[in-house]
Amino acid sequence: MNLLQFLLLSAVSVLAVVSGTVEETAREIIDALAHAPFEEWSSVFLETNDRIRAEVIPSTLFIPNSSANVSDDRHKVAAYHVVPERLEFADLLLKASQSRLPTLLNGSSILVTNNSASSFTVDGVLIIELDIYVDSFMAIHRIATPLDYTTYGGGSKLISKWPLFTFMLFTVMWFI
Ligand SMILES: *[C@@H]1O[C@H](CO)[C@@H](O)[C@H](O)[C@H]1NC(C)=O
Ligand SMILES: *[C@@H]1O[C@H](CO)[C@@H](O)[C@H](O)[C@H]1NC(C)=O
Ligand SMILES: *[C@@H]1O[C@H](CO)[C@@H](O)[C@H](O)[C@H]1NC(C)=O
Ligand SMILES: *[C@@H]1O[C@H](CO)[C@@H](O)[C@H](O)[C@H]1NC(C)=O
Repeated sequence: MNLLQFLLLSAVSVLAVVSGTVEETAREIIDALAHAPFEEWSSVFLETNDRIRAEVIPSTLFIPNSSANVSDDRHKVAAYHVVPERLEFADLLLKASQSRLPTLLNGSSILVTNNSASSFTVDGVLIIELDIYVDSFMAIHRIATPLDYTTYGGGSKLISKWPLFTFMLFTVMWFI
């Protein structure tokens, strides 16, 4: 093995470790949100997605303005309200109507249903409070009601692509 191969292999290993840590953080966030009422999501999210404790995920959280209990699988509901990309309202406004935002729920994305500044809706639900928290990694918005992944989920697979990406890199290494 020459030096270049060694360096490439090291880079791939580091990538695999990092992606593992990010997935771990994602699992922790989902778990924490699933066990908390919507009213506590903001603090729970900020505590869990903490760049000191683990690998921080640049992300956006949509918090429903509702104390209603969701009867559905709470882990799926929680995962569907987190977008693994930091989108403050200015970024959201650049999204085209009918475009999709990936979520931590495997295979499900959020549909931008109206991108007008005055009545921005996702999955047909109005964003009622913008940028209630924003830093360089995260953004949090409040929405009128919980999002419904069974109706709007569609198909994007961000999380499930990470292992595939790592696998592809290993395959490329194999051929070098
Ligand atoms: C948010 O929920 C509270 C309590 O249910 C309600 O009083 C308030 O009108 C809601 N705000 C909006 C903007 O829908
Ligand atoms: C929601 O459900 C939990 C248990 O599943 C229960 O302890 C809690 O009181 C419920 N909250 C509301 C507002 O119904
Ligand atoms: C995501 O979905 C795919 C296909 O449905 C499945 O093979 C994979 O195991 C799922 N991954 C997770 C983390 O649930
Ligand atoms: C978006 O909302 C605005 C303001 O309510 C409305 O005028 C416009 O027709 C809506 N656009 C779509 C695509 O529904």
